[in-house]
Amino acid sequence: MKLHVVVSSTRPGRVGPLIADWFAGQVDPDSDKGGFDVEIIDLARVGLPMLDEPNHPAEQQYVHEHTRNWSASVAAADAFVFVMAEYNTGFTAPLKNALDYLYSEWHHKPVGFVSYGMTSAGSYHTLSVGAQTIADAAWVYAVPFAEVSEVAGYLSFDGSGIEVLVTDD
Ligand SMILES: Cc1cc2nc3c(=O)[nH]c(=O)nc-3n(C[C@H](O)[C@H](O)[C@H](O)COP(=O)(O)O)c2cc1C
Repeated sequence: MKLHVVVSSTRPGRVGPLIADWFAGQVDPDSDKGGFDVEIIDLARVGLPMLDEPNHPAEQQYVHEHTRNWSASVAAADAFVFVMAEYNTGFTAPLKNALDYLYSEWHHKPVGFVSYGMTSAGSYHTLSVGAQTIADAAWVYAVPFAEVSEVAGYLSFDGSGIEVLVTDD
């Protein structure tokens, strides 16, 4: 099963890729549930502009190469985990934009969430907004896998960048 772990933040200095790396390391590739081929999809690298397709995505009449590439990427996945930063009590604009580009490519595929943020993360803001979007988009499962509140407490700065220090507590 091909699992895409999607990094939802794109700003310079973000910690999203570190959270995604940590989560990917938790996935058992040889699980007795069938195993996973994990790929991290970084929306900063995907680099979609703000939605610029003229047609409704359900028509799949994409006029831009970046949309065709994004469509092929999402269509190739069997399941998703969204690594969602909390921004203003919701999930990020780049993730919403990436969701909006496509329609049937997302459908009927299991999806899980890893949400993180500072003080208000853990209050289910990000997950409730995300789950509502998922429900409206008619996906099948919406499962919170992990919430990391006060994420800065799990990071250390060593001069060359950020190192994840995920603890057991
Ligand atoms: C624009 C913006 C809005 C934020 N809003 C919230 C918030 O509502 N609740 C919260 O707990 N943390 C909030 N934060 C803190 C972020 O969740 C935290 O900085 C996290 O590291 C952001 O993910 P990133 O580093 O991958 O961008 C906000 C951060 C930014 C940049």
